[in-house]
Amino acid sequence: MKLTKRLLWAAAAAACALPAAAQSPEPDSLKTERMEWFSDAKLGIFIHWGIYSKGETSESWAFHNGHISLPDYMAQSDYFTADKYNPQEWVDLIKESGAKYTVITTKHHDGFALWDTKAGKVSAVKSSPAKRDVLAPFAEAVKDAGLKLGFYYSLIDWPDPDYPETYRDKAPKYDIKKEPKRWQKFLDFNNAQLTELSSTWNPDLYWFDGDWEHSAEEWNAPGVIKLLRSYNPDVIVNSRIQGYGDYATPELGVPVKRPSSPWWETCMTINDSWGFRTNDDNYKTPNTVLHMLVDCIGMGGNLLLDIGPRADGSIPEEEVAMLKAVGRWVNKHAEAVYGTRAGLPKGHIQANTSISKDGKTIYVYMPYRPTGGVELKGLKSRVKSARIVGNDTPVDWKIYNDISWSASPGVYYFSIPEEALDPEITVMALELDSPVTLYEGEGQVISFNDNELN
Ligand code: GLC
Repeated sequence: MKLTKRLLWAAAAAACALPAAAQSPEPDSLKTERMEWFSDAKLGIFIHWGIYSKGETSESWAFHNGHISLPDYMAQSDYFTADKYNPQEWVDLIKESGAKYTVITTKHHDGFALWDTKAGKVSAVKSSPAKRDVLAPFAEAVKDAGLKLGFYYSLIDWPDPDYPETYRDKAPKYDIKKEPKRWQKFLDFNNAQLTELSSTWNPDLYWFDGDWEHSAEEWNAPGVIKLLRSYNPDVIVNSRIQGYGDYATPELGVPVKRPSSPWWETCMTINDSWGFRTNDDNYKTPNTVLHMLVDCIGMGGNLLLDIGPRADGSIPEEEVAMLKAVGRWVNKHAEAVYGTRAGLPKGHIQANTSISKDGKTIYVYMPYRPTGGVELKGLKSRVKSARIVGNDTPVDWKIYNDISWSASPGVYYFSIPEEALDPEITVMALELDSPVTLYEGEGQVISFNDNELN
């Protein structure tokens, strides 16, 4: 055996001997194929539904932070009737919003499972007047509608006797290093629940939460991923499993700068709460939410917009209205939403943009009424035609400063017809003669001139 080969063997053997969590996460290049539907989807609907949906406390954090006692918090489950719950109506509304996937809280940090878990004692079936599995009919309706199914699952379960940290201000119940078997018992419980979820519904996506309280090694993150992929090799996992997931999840704020991860999703509330709150009427407007959506799309990301149904299963009217308003816009502008990729870098145009997969169409999102020509600079590919998406109104343009001696291409000024404006965000499509190529220089100083007019 040659020396190099022997070294490789030794390295491979050493890697196998490492504890699972010390192995590095999967490289992005191996994820591209399974992430395709996620990159194309752009809009998802998040659902926070559980004990807290009575509307008087925050989800789980209320007892963790000491605003309510744990027994009083858990007693809110008496109001979880699901009396008006109509999963088909939920799914119809999600479809109408234009979302291509949905993520539902199967279990939040309070341990209340929406399904009939055999692994745990706390669930809609065993601990609420609903007395039934409320996840099952939703999961089925989602699949029947052709939407991708995502499960939010909290890794932490603060009330569980074998989960160490229950309250923010109190010492943990035990030290997992001193009682590794007790901690393993908790991990086995999580794995048993995840096995139930995967073997019953085979979701397309897992949305973990709460990883911050323990390390990847403590969670046995690679083991969890392996378990999920044994049921669905293509399952997508969010980042909140200590670096072992597939995509980043900036929360409550669209990034200012394009995230370094090729896949990401901003999760966003419609008011200021994830779950239903009787005293929160700080609702965003459709324009604000759509602006966030095009901001995400322009940077190659998705928006996961949250709704918080009431404990009886009805969805607050303001949220219904929001999803319908978003759907009106998304459906009208479908070609400028689904399957697009991140747009032009900042500096070329004062707008969010995206680019079609073949690179030959630029979509320009205008959440304003242009008061003059919409300027686009630094585009080397030439525009063949321009139109308003949704009604195909042609758009005229002028080019200024197309100078023979300069590498900086002529600047476009598009005149947006008043009658073609959308009440929220107008979208213009620019069809190009070749895939987008850009001039990104600092401008040029003249060295010769053969044009009498320049
Ligand atoms: C946070 C919170 C949680 C909420 C989640 C949604 O991590 O812990 O309450 O469900 O964000 O993104």
